[in-house]
Amino acid sequence: MNTIIVGLQWGDEGKGKVVDYLTETADVVIRGQGGNNAGHTVIANGTKYVLHLLPSGILWDNKINVIGNGVVVDPVGLVQEIQRVEGQGVSITPDKLLISDRAHIVLPIHKELDAAREAALGDQKIGTTKRGIGPAYADKINRCGLRMADLLDRQFAEARITRRVEEANEILAKFDLTIFKAEDVIAEVYAAFERLRPHISNTIATLHTSWKDGKTLLFEGAQGTLLDIDFGTFPFVTSSNTTAGGSCTGSGLPPTAIDGVIGVCKAYTTRVGSGPFPTGDEGLSEYLHGLGREFGATTGRPRGCGWLDTVLLRFACMVNGVTGLAVTNVDGLDAYETLQICTSYDIDGVIHDLPPADRSAWDRAVPVYESLPGWQSDTTACTSYDQLPEQAKAYLNRLAELCGAPIAFVGVGPDRAQTLVV
Ligand code: GDP
Ligand code: IMO
Ligand code: MG
Repeated sequence: MNTIIVGLQWGDEGKGKVVDYLTETADVVIRGQGGNNAGHTVIANGTKYVLHLLPSGILWDNKINVIGNGVVVDPVGLVQEIQRVEGQGVSITPDKLLISDRAHIVLPIHKELDAAREAALGDQKIGTTKRGIGPAYADKINRCGLRMADLLDRQFAEARITRRVEEANEILAKFDLTIFKAEDVIAEVYAAFERLRPHISNTIATLHTSWKDGKTLLFEGAQGTLLDIDFGTFPFVTSSNTTAGGSCTGSGLPPTAIDGVIGVCKAYTTRVGSGPFPTGDEGLSEYLHGLGREFGATTGRPRGCGWLDTVLLRFACMVNGVTGLAVTNVDGLDAYETLQICTSYDIDGVIHDLPPADRSAWDRAVPVYESLPGWQSDTTACTSYDQLPEQAKAYLNRLAELCGAPIAFVGVGPDRAQTLVV
């Protein structure tokens, strides 16, 4: 059974935790898109791990983890991450971590160009993670990016980096931002590349062998459906296809290799960065932040919080072909007396079941809510779905009904063990 794990909201749904949980019965875990803009938190046996580029399967022994061709890899960031996670006692060997030779590289100039673009946008800024993701994907699409395989040909790579640095400097000079020296960039990238070299290979061939051998493959999505470059709240999105299809194009495994899609969502909604958020609610944000929850794993920014939005979820279940839902952070709502679920948007007096494309329509969308009673009891110690309070089950059933997909997993705490199978 090969499964895609995909975020159904604006990222941070708890994908890392779900992937970690499912890795126990999997053989290979694959990242197919995004870069170190992702921040996946896994708490296992009392230890907290924050992963950005490393697939969440890395915490298990004897599992293969693949950074696929669709990922943009910051080699310097990846080496730092490997060292940090190794420091937590996790072994990261070349037979455990494979990096695609086709993966594109995030250069230091991309991060600075990301900052420059954000500065130029002023109050219209996207609120990116400033990890250089947009500029790196732009170079890929513009056919001037650099891939892992290109670094193997040092002469070619040096010429390309030099050219890109010169072009970037022209832009950066206008913003009074760091001007790069090509030789410094080359030295920095190659220092990191030497650490990564033993991990780089043709992962497409390896993945096809695993598939043909009947191994269990798990695709770890990054970001979420509403951050997808095609399906998200454009332009307040990331620069890749974060939806299920991205797992195929980002790994080289075809749609016929996929048996199921688990869509991950929180029991409420969160978003970091700019852009529309119809169900955003200050009271709920303050409440969850007060509990020490909902601060970004990558940038530490507080996440905006709001009520469950099934307009988004319905759309996300459609475009991803979700076969089962994993609803996390149900415990976040434990103390609330009355809960709201957004069932549709009222845009200029017309009811919409699906999100609009037009950005001004997003700004005029007024959520239509349905109220449900809260359960007002602690769910964090529940060890089976049956133990959940009746009101919590009713909330989850209504969620599933409005989304048109069944619930497969429920999260009642951040620990690996706090996952209930339905
Ligand atoms: P990801 O980017 O989708 O992997 O999600 P993040 O790790 O960025 O954010 C999810 C946050 O919720 C992390 O702090 C997780 O530890 C936490 N988390 C995941 N599932 C649950 C849950 O069921 N309950 C609680 N309390 N926390 C959870
Ligand atoms: P995970 O995998 C939440 C958001 C940024 C910004 C927009 C564009 O942890 O769910 P980018 O740096 O990608 O150009 O920023 O996307 N964003 C995320 N928000 N979780 C993420 O990843 C995100 N990755 C990017 O905040 O709004
Ligand atoms: Mg995250």
